Amino acid sequence: ARVYRGTFAHSTRDSALRVLTDFVLGVNEQGKIAFFEEGQNVESLSHQWGFDTSDIEQLGSHEFFIPGMVDTHIHASQYIFSGTHLDLPLLDWLKTYTFPVELCYEDLDFAKDAYTKVVRRTLSNGTTTACYFATIHTDASLLLGRIADDFGQRALIGKVCMDRNSMVPDYKELTEGCKDETDRFVHELLKKKYALVKPVVTPRFAISCSSSLLSNLGKIAKNYDLHIQSHISENKHEVQFVKELFPDCTSYTDVYVKHGLLTDKTVMAHGCYLTDEELKIFHERGAAVSHCPNSNISLISGMLNVRNVLKHKVKLGLGTDVAGGYSSSMLDAIRRAVDTSKALCMQDAQLQPLSYKEAFRLATLGGSEVLSLDDCIGNFAVGKDFDALRVNLCVPGSPVDLFPGDDPEVILEKFLNLGDDRNIVEVYVAGKQVVPFPDSY
Ligand code: GUN
Ligand code: FE
Repeated sequence: ARVYRGTFAHSTRDSALRVLTDFVLGVNEQGKIAFFEEGQNVESLSHQWGFDTSDIEQLGSHEFFIPGMVDTHIHASQYIFSGTHLDLPLLDWLKTYTFPVELCYEDLDFAKDAYTKVVRRTLSNGTTTACYFATIHTDASLLLGRIADDFGQRALIGKVCMDRNSMVPDYKELTEGCKDETDRFVHELLKKKYALVKPVVTPRFAISCSSSLLSNLGKIAKNYDLHIQSHISENKHEVQFVKELFPDCTSYTDVYVKHGLLTDKTVMAHGCYLTDEELKIFHERGAAVSHCPNSNISLISGMLNVRNVLKHKVKLGLGTDVAGGYSSSMLDAIRRAVDTSKALCMQDAQLQPLSYKEAFRLATLGGSEVLSLDDCIGNFAVGKDFDALRVNLCVPGSPVDLFPGDDPEVILEKFLNLGDDRNIVEVYVAGKQVVPFPDSY
């Protein structure tokens, strides 16, 4: 139904970055990529697919498409205080700032305003798929699902579960109620039949959940074949506390394994202090890690050794972890991932730093693998949904300057390191244009 011609950059299984100049890509009525071939084939393609070559949308020389970015870990409810409150370590930060704010989402008007802002912002930043934590409130979490659907963002939505150690009196649930509300959340969200929005079982982390609650959540995930998300080994004090809370478990990973929560549809945020033995278990089970470098630095949590995670063949993606991470942009996550890897290289000269190309792959194809969506999104393969960003480096006020001789690969590298939402001129999810926003929004 629509055909674009110009430069496309994406990752594949074999290559962290492929920049394809003068390619033609067709999007069909279902929003899927119908063909993706070299420009010289355009005549035969137009016969085969029945389009007029004069209807082709030709990109400018300072423009290109990249796949939509996948934020594998973001707290929608914390967006309102992103950019502030970064002066305490994790457990104090949760108690002092985070839980009191999350409590406000009992108020649906408040939730509607805040959730609309985060969905708008992340879409503008090029996040076509987001894996969200909401709060403990079922109705506000359902509202986040409706808002993502309204704006056309692909999203996994988690109603947060926590029945102990909240340290804020009103911000926790009873074990039974939490299980029932998760059931209700899953049922009601699935009943809406949103095309791109799905529930994800969300124990906050082992510290917040009793053994009984964790088991019940494992059962719900299994019965409905759902995604699971949580946090793991983010901070040394957290790891120690989990050891004390679960003396019968051999590791933090073992806590989730024993409760049926480490599956091939599980995404665990952070993982800075996972041992090689634990990474082996992740690999065996097909569970994934979300690397959240901004948050890890901002809360002085730790530095994930990405090389070691990749060596263990564990599925890996990037997350903003707003608001532990102060930026909601996946471009920031790419930059911070490279920074963290270089910081680790200063401590260990043997270590190979992460390249911008590898970070780009983590933000796109890697994220799709983490969320088990790689048969549907992640790059420009025929048959996948067209989730894509149209990038233009020559817009008014562009933060990037180009010079004669900047080839397409250099232009992409400059965008990844210097660009922002002003350069992301159009965003598509499943073939539908979602940015710029329709006037009604
Ligand atoms: N661990 C448990 N809850 C949270 C959270 O909200 N943010 C981060 N960064 N880590 C957590
Ligand atoms: Fe988090």
